Amino acid sequence: MNYQDLVKQINQWDHDYYVLDQPSVSDAEYDLAFRALLALEDEHPEFITAESPSQRVGAKAIDDYVKIEHRLKMLSLSNAFSLEETYAFFEKAAKDLNLNAESLKVFSEPKLDGLAISLHYDHGLLSYAATRGDGLVGEDVTHTIKTIKSVPLKLSIDHPPEILEVRGEVFMPKLAFEKLNQQALQNNTKLFVNPRNAAAGTVRQMNPKIAAERDLQFIPYGLGEMVGTPSFTQHSEILAYLHSLGFRKNPHCYAFSGSYEAFVSNYELMEHIRAQLPMQIDGIVYKIDDLAQQASQGFIARSPKWAVARKFPAENSITELLAVDFQVGRTGVLTPVARLTPVFVGGVTVSNATLHNMDEIERLGLQIGDKIEIQRAGDVIPKVVQVVEQGTHRTPIIIPERCPACDALVHQTEGQAAYRCSADLSCNAQGAERIRHYASRKFMNITNLGTKLIELLYNTGRLKTIADIYSLNLEDISNFEGQGEKSAQNVLDSIATSKHTKLGTFLGALGIHEVGEEGAKSIAQYFKTLDTIMAASLEDLMQVPDIGPVMAKNIVEFFQSTENKDIIAKILAAGVNWPVIENQAIDKLPLAGQTWVLTGTLQQLTRSEAKALLESLGAKVAGSVSKKTTVVVAGLEAGSKLATALELGIKVMDEAEFVLATNTLSQV
Ligand code: IVH
Repeated sequence: MNYQDLVKQINQWDHDYYVLDQPSVSDAEYDLAFRALLALEDEHPEFITAESPSQRVGAKAIDDYVKIEHRLKMLSLSNAFSLEETYAFFEKAAKDLNLNAESLKVFSEPKLDGLAISLHYDHGLLSYAATRGDGLVGEDVTHTIKTIKSVPLKLSIDHPPEILEVRGEVFMPKLAFEKLNQQALQNNTKLFVNPRNAAAGTVRQMNPKIAAERDLQFIPYGLGEMVGTPSFTQHSEILAYLHSLGFRKNPHCYAFSGSYEAFVSNYELMEHIRAQLPMQIDGIVYKIDDLAQQASQGFIARSPKWAVARKFPAENSITELLAVDFQVGRTGVLTPVARLTPVFVGGVTVSNATLHNMDEIERLGLQIGDKIEIQRAGDVIPKVVQVVEQGTHRTPIIIPERCPACDALVHQTEGQAAYRCSADLSCNAQGAERIRHYASRKFMNITNLGTKLIELLYNTGRLKTIADIYSLNLEDISNFEGQGEKSAQNVLDSIATSKHTKLGTFLGALGIHEVGEEGAKSIAQYFKTLDTIMAASLEDLMQVPDIGPVMAKNIVEFFQSTENKDIIAKILAAGVNWPVIENQAIDKLPLAGQTWVLTGTLQQLTRSEAKALLESLGAKVAGSVSKKTTVVVAGLEAGSKLATALELGIKVMDEAEFVLATNTLSQV
């Protein structure tokens, strides 16, 4: 492929992924193309064009901000805090236009909670990007904005306008924000208060490399300067035009006639959708769709008279920390919960907030009696943002020595922030969740014993541990509403059927911390019997592919507990069984006769784990690629082996495909 085509191809893939949310190529193929591009650019720097995807990063760090004057002022929006205010705004606008509100076409857009950015395209190429600043003068932030993959470096149109200024919001999606703060917690650096601060902080980074590592997005909401654009009559046409040029669309935009009822139902809908959106929104922007009507409305001070921002109720409030309780979660982790003087925040009264873990309490410098700021984002549980004022009589928060649910000792897992109850199967706070985990489809697959029934049986004391499942009778189950004799019998039948299982499945069902489905399978395949697993030492367990020191330690501790051993004995006595695991004849294994090559860095498992896994499935693992190679697994930064494989037309899998393929083939 020549240079121009390569640039086009990668930009198209980026567009599919970052603008349309429809990935169209495997990671391996993308990486290969990108590497080919970099190699070409290295050899022929004269080829490099402004639209090359390599130009997104690579810009030098800046040492000062350059001011940029907005030739057309960047306005702000006036706010409305109730439906009445919103409706009154459009009633007034309609009156000015000699219309009634019902005959206005209103366009609604989510109000994205980020920062306003202006993008300048000169003959279709991004020339610079600026913040809003005071509306008249902003700052040049081209170096960080260029790293945002949903900002096209070149507009996708054959005859671009001479000048096009696209205005919109840069924001950080909720998941990316969580990830960033997770990293900050691990690295002991400062947490960002919310996605908006994180986005603003990232855009204003001097070094674009930092911005490139964080997932920012851009969604346009309008135009500024323009020369040589088509003529538009509606605002919604402008948004469609921008999408056709390669920009993302704001999700959940609606056009409706401006009746009071329409505003009510639009608000209710958006309030409902809000929590499900991948990005934080802080309100709804309502605009008059007709551009001629907009023009005749004009502006007051800093905001247009044709649009208003209906803000969602405030989400931060100040209150007092009355106490901290410790809740034992489903995995035995003790979570501190803040008990507060009730306070109205984000439209509801709140009296509890989460504190995550003891590290978080330390980070906040929090003590009982302090005045604190709490935040409620969307529907999520409120959290404590900061101490506003220390209490006059403050008491430190101390982790209890014993589990509040079962009185077993509490201990801290090495290297982790969490404190845990040392009991496993016998701790009643963990009980219902442990039973649900045990009975779930992935594990014992007791199809008719659902979460609701488990909770009912658990709360009435009939089901205390997983062993009690096997002594349930018809009467126990049909006692509950909606459980006739027939459905109760179905539950008993599915318990009976589930008794025939596999060792790996049973081991996973026990819910040993960190031991998931895959880990349990590997252990079962390696040791072959439950007795051997129960007697295995730390060193024995570390021999198993996939099993690290933490998992090994958890397994040893689990089987040291007399309570756990008693429960397992009861389950086996009830008839739970599995077929003997035999060493399969090599030639019967699914990958017998195949030769695989591993190259590049794998993320989910080590090279030797991947090798052991392939060998356990019967494949040979070779060090170099030849015509005889069946599959090449290409991890990150795969090099010449990948290139050879592609040359020879040998099947290439990225890590995700590899994991999927081997999962399907693993049999225990
Ligand atoms: S329209 C004349 N639409 O909200 C101003 N703004 O509070 C045109 N914002 O500065 C702005 N989402 O940064 C508009 N869908 C949206 C928006 C939006 C977020 C921001 C924008 C603006 C601020 C005003």
